[in-house]
Amino acid sequence: MESNKQQLTPNLLMAVGTAVIGSLQFGYNTGVINAPQTIIEEFYNETWSHRFSEPIPQTTLTALWSLSVAIFSVGGMFGSFSVGLFVNRFGRKNSMLMANVLAFIAAIFMGFSKLAASFEMLIVGRFTVGLYSGLSTGFVPLYVEEISPTSIRGALGTLHQLGVVIGILIAQIFGIESIMGNASLWPLLLGFTVLPAVLQCALLPFCPESPRYLLINCNEESKARSVLMKLRGTDEVSEDMHEMKEESEKMMREKKVTIPELFRSPAYRQPIFVAIMLQLSQQLSGINAVFYYSTGIFERAGVSQPVYATIGAGVVNTVFTVVSLFVVERMGRRPLHLIGLMGMAVSAMFLTVAMALLDQLRWMSYVSIVAIFSFVAFFEIGPGPIPWFIVAELFSQGPRPAAIAVAGFSNWSANFLVGMGFQYVELLCGPYVFIIFIVLLLGFFVFTYLKVPETKGRSFDEIAAGFRQSAGAGADKYSAPEEFSTLRGDDPDL
Ligand code: GLC
Repeated sequence: MESNKQQLTPNLLMAVGTAVIGSLQFGYNTGVINAPQTIIEEFYNETWSHRFSEPIPQTTLTALWSLSVAIFSVGGMFGSFSVGLFVNRFGRKNSMLMANVLAFIAAIFMGFSKLAASFEMLIVGRFTVGLYSGLSTGFVPLYVEEISPTSIRGALGTLHQLGVVIGILIAQIFGIESIMGNASLWPLLLGFTVLPAVLQCALLPFCPESPRYLLINCNEESKARSVLMKLRGTDEVSEDMHEMKEESEKMMREKKVTIPELFRSPAYRQPIFVAIMLQLSQQLSGINAVFYYSTGIFERAGVSQPVYATIGAGVVNTVFTVVSLFVVERMGRRPLHLIGLMGMAVSAMFLTVAMALLDQLRWMSYVSIVAIFSFVAFFEIGPGPIPWFIVAELFSQGPRPAAIAVAGFSNWSANFLVGMGFQYVELLCGPYVFIIFIVLLLGFFVFTYLKVPETKGRSFDEIAAGFRQSAGAGADKYSAPEEFSTLRGDDPDL
């Protein structure tokens, strides 16, 4: 712990803090659309009536609203898939800076949609901020993982998720009717996206480029060394430099890795499969059924003040991300992910029972609140933060950007699926809708137990070597890497 404190220098904190403003932006736009739904729908209706001299048909309104919500994840899919186009060409820092153009455009479209009497502008704005968010979910974990010392890489990686959950919470609070969730101020609520963008643009120029990028991709050894000295707060950086050079030498042999190669090469097939499954476990856990539709879920569960229960969920969400931040380096990624998945499954069982018995027992509404809160809490222990940063850990410098793009794309596609599909499936299954998530959660639990290696305390190169070794031992026989099996609890050097 003592040495962790020494490694947490002001320069490192400043760089990580600036990067995660991008995560906050993503979280804000995830949460912002939930509370003011009816008010913005009213604007859609007025605009429609004005144009066509008749009220908007209910089905058209529902379709337009679903589109406004879900187009954000479509933007996210495109954005995340494009990460690789930027990070090696422009560097990590400049990529983050450039992406803000999208946030500014989005803020203008959304902020002025009411003035221009155009719901199309709002939808375009949602898509554009989705593009930004998709890029951010790649850029931020990539940058943070690359500049962090190995021993606190997981804790700093969790700060990406902390940015997301704080963004969601701010959006939930600002969305209260008496603050900005009302007919006159909602454009401001959406236009607020401009603030994090301004802040990030002002701070990024003072942050360093990733030393791994400087050394391995640009071959700028002295620059990499001086950046590293600033980040670590010491002149003694030879160990880090040595590790990066080793990775660099391997990269020379490995060259740049494209997306199809990730799936063709036996050395990458296993980690990319793990990365995709972890992303799917995050989204198909059903977490966004809560974050997009919690107000409705609470309403049907008999809660009298659903908006405040939603904010309660946001608070629990934030608190448990902080818990994860403090335990991830001690307990490791695997146990936390396993505990999180199992805890979510059990919480969802309680929720299902509570929803099913609500008509007979009114007090079941309290059980459902507790069940949703604990569902969210367990999510943030592992499945929330870990998938985002572990992808960067599972790959070395060559394949990392392509892997992050593929993983991010899987995440956003599953996000879209849940966002679009949940309401329809709920109509079909009623109070039993969460059983689908229970089954999926248990499946992901088994997968994680069998296939996901521990990455805590290992250098990127060591982790990649573990996969290479097991691929060599039988490329197509998919099994947990031998090298990692000791890490399930009794590795002597941890
Ligand atoms: C993760 C997910 C995101 C979700 C959030 C909730 O960041 O990627 O979709 O809304 O957690 O905290």
